[in-house]
Amino acid sequence: MIHDGHGRTVSYIRLSVTDRCNLKCFYCRTDGEECFIDHSNILSYEEMLRLVQAAQTMDVTKLRLTGGEPFVRRDFLAFLGMLREECPGLDVRITTNGTLLGGKVPALKHLGIQRINISLDTLKPERFAHVTGRDFHDRVLQAIDDCLHYGLTVKINAVAMKGINDDEIAAFTEFAKTRPVDVRFIEFMPIGGCSHWKKEYALPARDIIAAVSAVADITPVPKHAINDGPARIYEIKDGLGRIGVISAMSDHFCDTCNRLRITSDGRLRTCLFSDKEYRLRPILRSPRLGNEALLRVMRLATQHKPLGYKLLEKRLLGNSVCSKVMSSIGG
Ligand code: GTP
Ligand code: 5AD
Repeated sequence: MIHDGHGRTVSYIRLSVTDRCNLKCFYCRTDGEECFIDHSNILSYEEMLRLVQAAQTMDVTKLRLTGGEPFVRRDFLAFLGMLREECPGLDVRITTNGTLLGGKVPALKHLGIQRINISLDTLKPERFAHVTGRDFHDRVLQAIDDCLHYGLTVKINAVAMKGINDDEIAAFTEFAKTRPVDVRFIEFMPIGGCSHWKKEYALPARDIIAAVSAVADITPVPKHAINDGPARIYEIKDGLGRIGVISAMSDHFCDTCNRLRITSDGRLRTCLFSDKEYRLRPILRSPRLGNEALLRVMRLATQHKPLGYKLLEKRLLGNSVCSKVMSSIGG
């Protein structure tokens, strides 16, 4: 087990395989020209595998593959095959927008993927096109059905935004009631240098839960009984699925944070909100440095993982908490 300087066990890595995404969501959209990482700086799958294997020697047991949109990257399924082959025992999960899953779910199942988180901020097709810039609502619903059909565990992530989708809390509750999925409302976070976050959009978890309670009989699941992820989960009476809230803003969960993040160009981040990064790519590409050097930096970074972040203070100043958008960090 590896512990950080505050005694928290670090056992989970989120690896962004690409910063490219086929959606242009409201919260990731930038006003000016989009900037992407140069292809030559994106780690190869072999380099990513080396990082994951190094992390495994630090007793990391859970890997979440994110993007951008991971399925945008060429040969992503082949990478999953490499991970299955080379990292037995690793719990590999994926966060995706679901739009490119068509026909791929049996292969995912075959590759040992059991859990998938799918982003869906609205159940209304027209609103989906407005929020994401693309007309792919049907594809996401189909992806959810396919994943359920093949027995994957599905969580839906809906970023909750007042004035945008707060009128859909009852519909999402019904969605969770009639399907075996966890629908998790995520508090909108001010991520990215010119993010579109404004306090007018903020919808605190307690308001979300109040709105859910108005239409369903819900009971909180004790945190220790979930032991999985940042969400607070509620069972719905007579429901197949559950409702959750990720209260990153109103009630942060830093004291139980167990994760490190790696961007697609090989930067290790110890906190979603902090711009402090440890550059692993030069080590990976150095002919002189081996895995020992890699591990030294990964351990050092873990040791210095911040206890939490003064999000509220920063927010009150009206700033974004970090300069990168979520799509380049990997959520
Ligand atoms: P599970 O392991 O399935 O619970 O996944 P997850 O919730 O950790 O991952 P997912 O990619 O589905 O993330 C859902 C939302 O939680 C995203 O908006 C993430 O940015 C947010 N989130 C995940 N980890 C953290 C974290 O460490 N801090 C904060 N503030 N938000 C996080
Ligand atoms: N605040 C909260 N969640 C966000 N996501 C992207 N940007 C933000 C933000 N600013 C969500 C995506 C995806 C997850 C990984 O992060 O919708 O579901």
